Amino acid sequence: MTGMSIRIAPSILSADFCNLERDLQRVSHADLVHVDVMDHHFVPNLTLGEPIVKRICEVSTLPVDVHLMIEDPDRWAPDFAQAGAKSVSFHMGATHAPVRLARQLRTMGCQACFAVRPAEPVEPMFDILDEFDMILIMTVEPGFGGQKFLSNQMGKVRRLRDEITRRGLDTHIQVDGGVNPETARVVADAGADVLVAGSAVFGAENPNAAIDEIRERAGQTYRK
Ligand code: DX5
Ligand code: ZN
Repeated sequence: MTGMSIRIAPSILSADFCNLERDLQRVSHADLVHVDVMDHHFVPNLTLGEPIVKRICEVSTLPVDVHLMIEDPDRWAPDFAQAGAKSVSFHMGATHAPVRLARQLRTMGCQACFAVRPAEPVEPMFDILDEFDMILIMTVEPGFGGQKFLSNQMGKVRRLRDEITRRGLDTHIQVDGGVNPETARVVADAGADVLVAGSAVFGAENPNAAIDEIRERAGQTYRK
């Protein structure tokens, strides 16, 4: 694995939804901006949709990473690529034709990513790994920010990293949920290279300093 470094993606779920542009400016040290789209059906929470994502893509100087927690991503995910997202993640438990959808996203110039919930295994997807640019391992049950990190997901991250390394792929591993300067060390040690953090970044007095600290701690243990 060459040239892979830790990237930090603040989740705007913990930003001020009435001051999104201001809050985007407060995380200028980040590598990506993580936008959680929830539909009140796939998860018991409702956030925002394509029109707001489109505006975020227009004003953000960082690439926008959209995490869809919605039913029927086969129908809706391409709209987010069209809106300007650099990467789109859909949940394996919600999609019907993940390979077709991944290919459609890639054709649109958007990186394709699938997400798995804590109780879902990643091994069944090993045969289709090369269809994806990134795999998202949830380290909380999806739906809400500020939940406690599930360290029992680290075996999954390790097995996935081993498989990616064994096959010489350059697939990124993203972890999402409960990431802070402490747990950053643990996820990087397991082999994750894209760290989403919501409350740990936007809940901090200085969000950019929190991003720097998470990146620094993760960099100390990152297992390529
Ligand atoms: C949860 C979302 C996360 C959330 C993470 O369903 O997918 O992106 O914002 O928030 P923290 O970092 O506070 O756990
Ligand atoms: Zn997310």
